[in-house]
Amino acid sequence: MKKYLLFVCLGNICRSPAAEGVMKSVVADDPRLDGFVEIDSAGIGAWHTGQLPDSRMRKCGASRGYDFSSRARQVKPQDFDRFNYVFAMDHENVADLNGVARNATDRKKILCLADYLTDHRDYHTVPDPYYGTQKDFEIALDLIEDACKEVARLLAEEKL
Ligand code: 4NP
Repeated sequence: MKKYLLFVCLGNICRSPAAEGVMKSVVADDPRLDGFVEIDSAGIGAWHTGQLPDSRMRKCGASRGYDFSSRARQVKPQDFDRFNYVFAMDHENVADLNGVARNATDRKKILCLADYLTDHRDYHTVPDPYYGTQKDFEIALDLIEDACKEVARLLAEEKL
């Protein structure tokens, strides 16, 4: 059965579009998952609706072979009807998503992407790089790659 994954951050221009792009690439490379997983991203806020990802994240992604070119949109309550799992980047996103969720069924779908880190267990969130340096974008992408690979492994082994 197909799985539907939504990645959510504050603005949908740095972390979650990167997670969308990385996860799509990981899934496309795994014959157990290719064609069985739908992936999208959204933001808590609507400030950047319609925009491409931040140029600093696009540059980080391009240097690792990704093309981050989704358009920003705001998360909506109906997303909980379509998606099986809603991965938040930090605990503020989790709190905000709990405010968007309509009931306990919706709330059960909210997960924290950092809980799937394997090589960076000292991190408990994917920190917001927006007001940071290029290095902060590289760290965010390191964390996203690490956690997305683990999410893909769990999906492929039908543990998620
Ligand atoms: P993101 O980063 O949540 O990873 O997309 C941010 C992007 C924009 C803003 C904050 C964080 N902002 O305040 O506009």
